[in-house]
Amino acid sequence: MQCRWKARTGPLPSLSSLLLLAALCATAASAGPKIWTCATCHTRQAATQPNTSMAHAMQPASTNPLFKTHPKMTVQKGAFTYTIETRGSETTYSVTDGLETATVPIRWIFGANSQTYVLERNGQFYESLVSYWKSIDALDTTVGDQAIQPRNVNEALGRPLASSEITLCFGCHSTGAVTDHHLHLEIITPGVTCFHCHQGASNHLEDISHGNAKSTPPKLKQLSPEEISSFCGQCHRTWETVVRNHWMGPMNVRFQPYRLEISKCFDGKDARMSCIACHDPHQEVVREDKNYDSKCLACHSAGARPSAGMIAAHPNAAAMKTCPVSKTDCVSCHMPKIDLPGGHQVFTDHDIRIARANEPYPH
Ligand code: HEC
Ligand code: HEC
Ligand code: HEC
Ligand code: HEC
Ligand code: HEC
Ligand code: HEC
Ligand code: HEC
Repeated sequence: MQCRWKARTGPLPSLSSLLLLAALCATAASAGPKIWTCATCHTRQAATQPNTSMAHAMQPASTNPLFKTHPKMTVQKGAFTYTIETRGSETTYSVTDGLETATVPIRWIFGANSQTYVLERNGQFYESLVSYWKSIDALDTTVGDQAIQPRNVNEALGRPLASSEITLCFGCHSTGAVTDHHLHLEIITPGVTCFHCHQGASNHLEDISHGNAKSTPPKLKQLSPEEISSFCGQCHRTWETVVRNHWMGPMNVRFQPYRLEISKCFDGKDARMSCIACHDPHQEVVREDKNYDSKCLACHSAGARPSAGMIAAHPNAAAMKTCPVSKTDCVSCHMPKIDLPGGHQVFTDHDIRIARANEPYPH
């Protein structure tokens, strides 16, 4: 009995053929082991999603590629020397002032590229005071922790995390760690997986294995651009979160839902302007300007249908505006790259606009 599909691309087989196969496999279950995973049916998403940064937003020390290529990293910060050292399968983080040393094993690695470590010492969690920054290929102060002036080794280790904050960290960077607002580190799956974004996927997997397609997860594609923005904003922060917390200035460039929503291009309804119009969450972000031209031209070309926002602003609008300057590489000028203050990181400003040199950063 062929209970697993071969990896294939293209559309999903018809529902009826899947259900027939599911039923046959369920009947044949006693004949041998069968393993149903999302990849059995949704080969396209499952082929690429596990390789994305989101899927590696948290990773176990044993499979962290950084520790293999950088077995010893050190940095001096004021009176303190930090060392991250890997020996075999064990990696430790230590800080010393020359007299006293604190050493803890690293278990929780946050970040696929640049990395911060969540440390555990005597039952208390800390955010490591130094992080690995990919752009400088070295350790430096963790973004947001610049103002901390440690007085001793204990304080230099990291910023103590309240249990509410630690729950949030794991909630955004891993799957299944938080149920009913409580942290369950023993059942954690590192990274953002299918189950995090597709609620009800476990029931669906269980049911569909028995030939029952009634409990399919909600169709996220049907959400409006505004709802998608809030969906991604659960982790990338929503417009509302940014406004409520008064996170103004260039530090909010990393919160794409907020930036996008303040752009004139976004009206919350037109599906041509939505996170999923430009990004496939099952694939790594495409870092090539030309890839986005067709997304802009879907609106900004002669003959394109005006968007709902355009009609609201200009009731008599017949056509969308087009660019007097260029026909390609739209995002290179209209979505500028901005340095994140205090971090060694650059983000793409999702406030799509005419960005003029020497103009202040629009909040
Ligand atoms: C035995 C095959 C099978 C397996 C295994 C399976 N699914 Fe599905 N899935 C289906 C079918 C069939 C549908 C319904 C398709 C439709 O309605 O067009 C579906 C629907 C979905 C949808 C809604 C699709 C949409 O149109 O938006 C999501 C999301 C989804 N599955 C995710 C998952 C995830 C995550 C897993 C693993 C936990 C999984 N599925 C496992 C067959 C399967
Ligand atoms: C459960 C939390 C969560 C949700 C929901 C989520 N993301 Fe993410 N996303 C993350 C985290 C965490 C990272 C950082 C990964 C890293 O570099 O460590 C990330 C990174 C990314 C990246 C950057 C990848 C790169 O190459 O640096 C893109 C693009 C992205 N997300 C798009 C989306 C979109 C679009 C949605 C909504 C469809 C979404 N995300 C929903 C948590 C989430
Ligand atoms: C509300 C969801 C959320 C919470 C809470 C959260 N993160 Fe993230 N984190 C993200 C997203 C989304 C990204 C990717 C985009 C970005 O960098 O802003 C990210 C990126 C990162 C990165 C990659 C480097 C960087 O700064 O971009 C690290 C490291 C990181 N987070 C560590 C942590 C730690 C440690 C905590 C807890 C103290 C935490 N995060 C809490 C959502 C979250
Ligand atoms: C970061 C959130 C996120 C993760 C992680 C994620 N998905 Fe999705 N998925 C979405 C969103 C948003 C959509 C709707 C937009 C789209 O179709 O790309 C979607 C759509 C789908 C669909 C319907 C596709 C269609 O063409 O109708 C399937 C099936 C699916 N996902 C399966 C999976 C599987 C399997 C995994 C794990 C390998 C996974 N997803 C991981 C957010 C996510
Ligand atoms: C009009 C197209 C477009 C839309 C809509 C869009 N993005 Fe992006 N996004 C981009 C481009 C372009 C980049 C930069 C790619 C590169 O580096 O070359 C990017 C990069 C990112 C990154 C990587 C970090 C960075 O700033 O470079 C994240 C995370 C991200 N987008 C999330 C989102 C989320 C969440 C939404 C919805 C609120 C969204 N994007 C909507 C075009 C878009
Ligand atoms: C859903 C349709 C839509 C899409 C897709 C879209 N825009 Fe727009 N854009 C608009 C609307 C509507 C306006 C406001 C026009 C007005 O008020 O006259 C606008 C305005 C602009 C402006 C002028 C802003 C200003 O400050 O006056 C620029 C520049 C721009 N868009 C560039 C882009 C680029 C680049 C992309 C792709 C990354 C893009 N747009 C994608 C609908 C869209
Ligand atoms: C080399 C930088 C550059 C590139 C690339 C570029 N633009 Fe522009 N764009 C500009 C500048 C500068 C203006 C403002 C022109 C002015 O006001 O004189 C502008 C204006 C616009 C406007 C507003 C027009 C109006 O009538 O108010 C839109 C819409 C626009 N661009 C869309 C796009 C799209 C879509 C693309 C890709 C096909 C693109 N731009 C590529 C620099 C660029």
